[in-house]
Amino acid sequence: MCNEQSAPGLEVGCFCRLRLRVLLVGNDQWKARLRLGAGDVVVGERRRNLATRSRAPKTERIESFQIIFFWKRAVTVGMGRNILSIGGSSGVGLELIKHLTSQDDSVHVASRNDNGISAIPNVSFQEYDVTRKDAELHLPESLDGMVYCPGTINLKPFGRITDEDFQNELEVNYLGAVRAIRLAHAALKKPGKSSIVLFSTVAVQTGLPYHASISGAKGAVEGLCRSLAAEFSPDIRVNCLALSLTDTPLASGLLNSGDKRTASADRHPLKRIGDPKEVAQAAAFLLGKESGFITGQVIQIDGGISTLKLL
Ligand SMILES: NC(=O)c1ccc[n+]([C@@H]2O[C@H](COP(=O)([O-])OP(=O)(O)OC[C@H]3O[C@@H](n4cnc5c(N)ncnc54)[C@H](OP(=O)(O)O)[C@@H]3O)[C@@H](O)[C@H]2O)c1
Repeated sequence: MCNEQSAPGLEVGCFCRLRLRVLLVGNDQWKARLRLGAGDVVVGERRRNLATRSRAPKTERIESFQIIFFWKRAVTVGMGRNILSIGGSSGVGLELIKHLTSQDDSVHVASRNDNGISAIPNVSFQEYDVTRKDAELHLPESLDGMVYCPGTINLKPFGRITDEDFQNELEVNYLGAVRAIRLAHAALKKPGKSSIVLFSTVAVQTGLPYHASISGAKGAVEGLCRSLAAEFSPDIRVNCLALSLTDTPLASGLLNSGDKRTASADRHPLKRIGDPKEVAQAAAFLLGKESGFITGQVIQIDGGISTLKLL
């Protein structure tokens, strides 16, 4: 009964532990929800919701071959969009995953640690290290969007930044993005519909001391954003969010005391630091059709620090 089975983009362990809910809508679109639970049996529910042909819900048992069929439909058609998130086990990426899955999107997360995210409904997890040149991504046939979250904060006076520091910043922020986009490119080719979101820092367009290595690497990311936006147009939109200090594990070293938090907040015209939830909402906007006429942009989310000077 518990055969190991797999479908594009997701490994399904035990079919006898899946509850499959399938809603057949009048216009022939499928919506499906998969829930794991010990001892659950596989049950399908089919409804017609057309007012003219309304019928009472009917529950029926679905054989395993039908489950594979339904799952494939669900991955490619039914559960909102398919989004790839490189990174996502913490910070902005984690908030974005919560946001997207609450809207019925499926999120395929690739990062080094699961950190419990695979327990979130509609999330599949695969281990992936962006610094490994030979790392593979297991992707569904088609993707509606991709977000690249890995980043670094390594602030040092220029004289103390080693070649290894510069190389590491480039690997995680820039070359990792290049490799991941290369792997996902074919799946993202959906004319006019798919979107890539990258992350940069305010320290690229505003000179800040001790930021030489990260500003170089993120400057490369901003260049990549504009170049690919031009090259992939009109099929794939590419945009970038340039953040100031945001309250995530990445920034914890800069925010680990009340004094540091207050000083950081005070430096921003809006007198606070960034919230990963609001950054996630901006990323979700750039992934969505509401931003369908925006590409090649670097958008600052920075409490005004990059452009305003208060008198
Ligand atoms: N927070 C800030 O103050 C700030 C400021 C400016 C710019 N940014 C940028 O905003 C983006 C999001 O940052 P965040 O604050 O949300 O960072 P975060 O909390 O550290 O999250 C980064 C995510 O990327 C993953 N990741 C890191 N290294 C990886 C690797 N080698 N391979 C695969 N996955 C990796 C991490 O997961 P695993 O550890 O599980 O791999 C994690 O899920 C970054 O690009 C960052 O540079 C942040």
